[in-house]
Amino acid sequence: MKENIQKISEELDRLAAESLEQAEELRIRFLSKKGEIPALFADFRNVAPEERREIGQALNSLKQKATEKINALKASLERGGSTEDSDLDLTRPSGEHEIGSRHPISLVRNRIINIFQNIGFSVSEGPEMEDDWHNFSALNFPPEHPARDMQDTFFIEKGEDHAKQVALRTHTSSVQVRVMENTKPPIRTLSPGRVFRNEAISARSHCIFHQVEGLYVDKNVSFADLKQSLFYFATEMFGEDTKIRFRPSYFPFTEPSAEMDISCILCKGEGCNVCKYTGWLEIMGCGMVDPAVLKNCGIDPDVYSGYAFGMGIERIAMMLYSVKDIRYFFENDKRFLKQFTAAF
Ligand code: DAH
Repeated sequence: MKENIQKISEELDRLAAESLEQAEELRIRFLSKKGEIPALFADFRNVAPEERREIGQALNSLKQKATEKINALKASLERGGSTEDSDLDLTRPSGEHEIGSRHPISLVRNRIINIFQNIGFSVSEGPEMEDDWHNFSALNFPPEHPARDMQDTFFIEKGEDHAKQVALRTHTSSVQVRVMENTKPPIRTLSPGRVFRNEAISARSHCIFHQVEGLYVDKNVSFADLKQSLFYFATEMFGEDTKIRFRPSYFPFTEPSAEMDISCILCKGEGCNVCKYTGWLEIMGCGMVDPAVLKNCGIDPDVYSGYAFGMGIERIAMMLYSVKDIRYFFENDKRFLKQFTAAF
């Protein structure tokens, strides 16, 4: 008798039903007239008198347990299977789900990449921790060039021997070296990524920012190709009536080098405080890849020529979205980020 009570009690602990019908079947099995528990009650008369008190109590609690358990199963199934409070209203609309938005830097990067992909550029990536060769030497930086100085570069290993130095890359131009070393021309590639410079953080500059580097190497690539591609980019990115102009500049890895300006996207060249009343905004550096750089990367400069360009993503995002302080991009304040919703 005792074992039977114990067995049924354990079974009740594991009781589950998937439908009201199943719960009713359980009720019939345990509690109906011919059910297992009434059968035990019927057997009660065979219990020895000295055990009657104990077993009687056990039987009564078993019956109570079964009734409660099966009623609870039925009630929960009537509520749709939930074990929540009975006043739960399943027809009530659920709480609002906040939808995330892309970071403005990703939006601008993706737009730049889309535009250049239309004219055959692929995307390449490289490490953020870079050796001296890829960040400086192969790109024609003379050993005493100020950009190698501690002021600009975060060195990870800085010995006297340049060749052994390791630093956080100061520009994504390092990736063009890696691509040229590993690919035969024609090469048409973009390298977007994070770069690092040891600069004081202010509204206009940060020690971490993003660049997109572009590289095109083939036979007979000329400055006219560079101008045409960048003009196409500027009109796609900033609007059809955008004008561009080139100013002579200097970079160790390009010859000739230029800065490209676009007509101010706010005043259309009339002059405003964003373009400092010049009508122009500087957006990137560019030039023809220096033959020495091609050679350093194993490409014959007598056969091939190329152009390269590099732009800062934050700078462009600040112009496009009228963001006044570069630090907003890194603080990840939801009130700022939620303002950028676009399909890119
Ligand atoms: N690496 C340059 C910088 O960080 C940007 C740049 C200028 C890249 C001219 C180029 C280029 O490829 O041709 O300021």
